[in-house]
Order: sequence, then C-alpha cells, then structure tokens
Amino acid sequence: MGIVTLKKDVAAVRESCRIVRKVLTELAQFIQPGVTTAEINALGRSIIRSEGAVPSFLNYNGYPAAICISINREVVHGIPSADRVLKDGDIVGIDVGAYKNGYHGDAADTVMVGSVSPETRRLVEVTYEARNLGIAAAVQGNHVGDIGYAVQSYVELNGFSVVHQLVGHGIGKKLHERPQVPNYGKAGKGMKLSNGLLLAIEPMVNAGASKIRILQDGWTVVTDDGSLSAHAENTIMINGNSPEILTA
Ligand code: MF3
Ligand code: CO
Repeated sequence: MGIVTLKKDVAAVRESCRIVRKVLTELAQFIQPGVTTAEINALGRSIIRSEGAVPSFLNYNGYPAAICISINREVVHGIPSADRVLKDGDIVGIDVGAYKNGYHGDAADTVMVGSVSPETRRLVEVTYEARNLGIAAAVQGNHVGDIGYAVQSYVELNGFSVVHQLVGHGIGKKLHERPQVPNYGKAGKGMKLSNGLLLAIEPMVNAGASKIRILQDGWTVVTDDGSLSAHAENTIMINGNSPEILTA
C-alpha cells in the first residue's frame, strides 16, 4: 500500500507528480491536427528524461512506449505509432507516468483536437467533473467505495457509463499498489482512507455501453460498441478533509 508519512518521501512523490503534470501540459500544447502519436510519445519521453526521471510505463508488463495514447473509441493503453495521425474533431487520451527518487506519479488527460462536436465535448467535460468528484470524496475516514460511488452516480446521471473491468489504484514505490479504486461502488464500502495514502483516481467514461475489449496488439483497450471514451486521472494524497492533488 502506498502510504507516505516521512517528509522526504512526500517530497519525492510530489516531484514525480510535478514532472507528470509538466509533461501533460506540454503535450496538450503540442497536440494539433496532423501530429502523430509517435511524435507525442517521443516528446513526452524526452521531457521525462530531461527531468531526471524514468517513464513508468515503458517495459511495464512489456508495454512498448513511454506514454499511452488512446484516440476516440480507444479507452486506455493505446500504443503510439507513426501511422496514427490526429485529425480535427478527435479526442485523445494521454496517460503519463514518471518515476524518480523511488516514487511514481501517474496522471492522464483527454485532449480535444481542433473543434469537437458538442456531444463529444460533453463526454470530456463529464469525465473531468467525475474525476473531481471522485477526488472530493477521497477524504480521511471515507471509504474507497465513496470514490467509486461519486464517479459512477455523476457519470450515469449524465447518460454515460463507467468502465468496470479497469480500475484506479494505490501508487507509490510501485506503479500499482493496493487498494484498487473502482469507478463504481457503494458509499461506505471498501477500505477506509487514511492520511498519507496515495491513490490514482482515474475515471474511464464511455459514451455508450460500459463493455470493453482488447485489440490484437494485446494492449489497446477499446469500447466494445465503438462509442467514444474519455479518461482523466490524477495522483492524490489523502490529507484530512482536503486531498492534495499531486498531479494538479
Ligand atoms: N495509468 C495507467 C494505469 O494506471 C497506465 C498503465 S499503462 C502500462 O494503469 F503500460 F503501464 F501498463
Ligand atoms: Co493509473
């Protein structure tokens, strides 16, 4: 379980998370129609390295790149490629992990490319708001189920669905630690949250049905019905009534 109490460990995880946010910010500025996902990956990798960090995802269970880049119906874990060219109206999930001084940071955003349709924009905005509501529920004394409940109820109220087969997670010395943080759940259920616990809260929201499948490449997760999907993730630390958003 990723629980940090020592000052030096808190400083280390803050630093990894600062780098993750820097990468996301610079990649969002770089993204425009005509850019390939291989170019996005190369830029992200070089920023991570220039900050003295290591990309958390590269070679993780054999994942072949530094950044996960997932377009439109792709939910998460898309593999960057020189053949994938972004076009006007796409939405692109960029998921970044950085490891430095013994700690990982992990965050993702969904970027709108050029001008997107109103319904696509609504999907992205609901996903960010779901992340915010999940984080707001991550207070000391609450339970993991309160986070999932907050995410799921908001998403479904808006007519979208949450992915069940993939979950958020504890994080720290390892990229994935206990507890699992589902984007669904019952208020008051699951592990109790205590100060210093590090969590990656990451709603994956589908415009259509919640079912997903994995492509032949063994990684890319797509919606089964081909509908659009958006993803937003932050690493946070439980801190009394106001969670610290480390990747803000
Ligand atoms: N943010 C994703 C996660 O927490 C990224 C993992 S991709 C992998 O699971 F390549 F590292 F597996
Ligand atoms: Co994650």
